[in-house]
Amino acid sequence: MPLIAGNWKMNGLAADLDQAQVVAAGVGAASTARVVLCPPATLLARMATVLTGTPVLVGGQDCHDQPRGAFTGDVSAEMLADAGASLVIVGHSERRAAYGETNATVAAKALAARRAGLEPIICVGESRAERDAGRAIDVICAQVAGCVALPLAAGAFAIAYEPIWAIGAGLTPTAVEIAEAHAALRGALIDCAGGRGAAAPILYGGSVNPGNAAEILAIADVGGALVGGASLKAADFLAIVHAA
Ligand code: PGA
Repeated sequence: MPLIAGNWKMNGLAADLDQAQVVAAGVGAASTARVVLCPPATLLARMATVLTGTPVLVGGQDCHDQPRGAFTGDVSAEMLADAGASLVIVGHSERRAAYGETNATVAAKALAARRAGLEPIICVGESRAERDAGRAIDVICAQVAGCVALPLAAGAFAIAYEPIWAIGAGLTPTAVEIAEAHAALRGALIDCAGGRGAAAPILYGGSVNPGNAAEILAIADVGGALVGGASLKAADFLAIVHAA
């Protein structure tokens, strides 16, 4: 079952919770996709309440690797779970760039998610310069090797392939490039996590919209989508869910 995840990033106030309700009404119990919305931490508990009894799950956008402590401004995986989250995005390229998150940091966050009973969505992706230099596949496979620690294989997790240059840019790789990346990631995942690596969904992310979702989701080994901008409007996000 494909996983369609909406990443609201630093967007969303209480007034926007009605978008989540519209999504839930449109997804329906017979959905052929698993659907998760990842609002800012301030909205998570309220969104979880609004979505109780619906098939739409709630996820975090990041977590600290420690369960509690003197980490001003941070949120732990346990706190996200306590607020109603089922999943959490870790290692988004915006956090790698803005906060210097390394593969080791991301690996620790993914394990923290596992500890708290959350399913981590681990993001990888190459820069434009890395792709132009012919290094995209090496970079993303090294990210998987550095972020997917063996204990993760004890439970469910997902990977999101998000070329940095495609995010929020209205640009996407070609279908051949996406297929090539996902095939390489599958090999790297099997090397790191065996059977769980073979089963983990590999989402594509980066400028997914209602117009390109069906084509992208039909590519071999694309197990869903991580959607940023188009997840903010319920109608657009639902169109992507229905393309899955
Ligand atoms: P986008 O963002 O869909 O707006 O390109 C995707 C993401 O950053 O997860």
